[in-house]
Amino acid sequence: MRNGVEPETADKLTHEWIFQDDFLLGKRNEIAADFVIGNPPYIRLEDIPEARSNAYRKACPTMGGRADIFIGFYERGLETLRDGGHLGFICADRWMRNAYGKALRSLVASDYSVEAAITMHDVDAFETQVSAYPAITVIRAGTQGPAVIADTTADFTEASAADLREWYQRGRGGALHSTGISAAWLSHWFTTQAGWPTGSPDRLALVADLEERFPLLEETGAKVGIGLASGADQIYVTKDSSVAEEERLLPMVVRSDLSSGRINWSEHYLVNPWSSTGLVDLDEWPRLAGYFRRHWQTLSDRNVGRRSPGREHRTIDRVIEGLRLRRKILLPDMSQRIWPVMDEGQYYPHHNLYWIHEGESDWNLDVLAGLLLSDVAELFISTYCVRMRGGTLRFQAQYLRRIRVPRFADIDEAAREELKDAFRKRDVNAATKVALRLYGVAEIPS
Ligand SMILES: C[S@@+](CC[C@H](N)C(=O)[O-])C[C@H]1O[C@@H](n2cnc3c(N)ncnc32)[C@H](O)[C@@H]1O
Repeated sequence: MRNGVEPETADKLTHEWIFQDDFLLGKRNEIAADFVIGNPPYIRLEDIPEARSNAYRKACPTMGGRADIFIGFYERGLETLRDGGHLGFICADRWMRNAYGKALRSLVASDYSVEAAITMHDVDAFETQVSAYPAITVIRAGTQGPAVIADTTADFTEASAADLREWYQRGRGGALHSTGISAAWLSHWFTTQAGWPTGSPDRLALVADLEERFPLLEETGAKVGIGLASGADQIYVTKDSSVAEEERLLPMVVRSDLSSGRINWSEHYLVNPWSSTGLVDLDEWPRLAGYFRRHWQTLSDRNVGRRSPGREHRTIDRVIEGLRLRRKILLPDMSQRIWPVMDEGQYYPHHNLYWIHEGESDWNLDVLAGLLLSDVAELFISTYCVRMRGGTLRFQAQYLRRIRVPRFADIDEAAREELKDAFRKRDVNAATKVALRLYGVAEIPS
């Protein structure tokens, strides 16, 4: 009105410009936005009346599972951006790692660029006390380029924010270590749908750098897998070798057999319902048949049993032909650090173990085991894995597959010998020394 606009027009304009609505269901912007800024609400979908939460899910496909509605705010916010526009949210950062964030992570990875992620878990960012693991995340509509990762401590103040801004404006370069904040440039953001890694900015910058320079473990030809899940270990995994014919008992290695760093076989067997051609015909194996029949009820009550009428004796996973007799590296599914153990080709791994072998490639497994013993392998695992209370790492095949390694052909003869030797002696420091040289890294930052 100060600019001479008629009151009626001024009223119309301001109502066009500023309006209150449900961001997830309300009217959509006609003009693509340069900036979307917000502090979206955290409310679990299950705490919202069903009709509304269903409408939210329909409007925002990334809100899968037990999602929180801030996921929808990201989705709607991102789709509102013009090409090159920026979204900046201060919001819980749970979605970067958990299951319900997967669809949003893939959306971001495929169509957007993470520009900055500033973790503020211990900062008193809000007027009222909220414990929500907040982070400031800036995402641009465009192709992914270098990104800034920062972490703060409770000492974070306005001065720390000014330090960050000044460092950021200088552009890509060395890391920032200042009161209350540390930050680093990553050569790229993490493109995986699996949870994005955690760790100090320096460690994440190193992981991003190694990801740029080295192939994935499986790209070098090695194969990674998990041991067999039966669905009823109390029946399928036994020490009693009288329960079935000898040919139907597969020596099985379990997690506790590895605790010394070498295999100390506890004489467990898998009662094996599989032959090379498929599930065995029980008529041909009377002792096995008798054993399974005594437990038929339990076998049929398993999900896999219910889904397989007439084939209730199957285990969830099939036995992989030839895996037992292969030389392979085994890793327990939970441990304090990555800890490779060699199986000379005697045992079938149980579900709580991961296995790695050379596949069709030329890898020497002792050299690979030496690399996997090093702190460089540990860096990948500890930034990608979920840590349980007490510091135990929860391994998963998806995390092992994220380890980057040099190709075997690129490892010189001296380094091969040193890695073999380090593995033989379980000498982490020696393995790390060789690995740092091979990866061209001076040290692993804390
Ligand atoms: C975390 S608070 C933001 C508080 C804000 N930073 C402030 O200082 O007032 C989230 C806000 O989102 C609003 N909100 C919740 N659901 C919404 C929806 N579906 N659409 C739009 N706003 C919503 C809430 O009313 C709340 O004000």
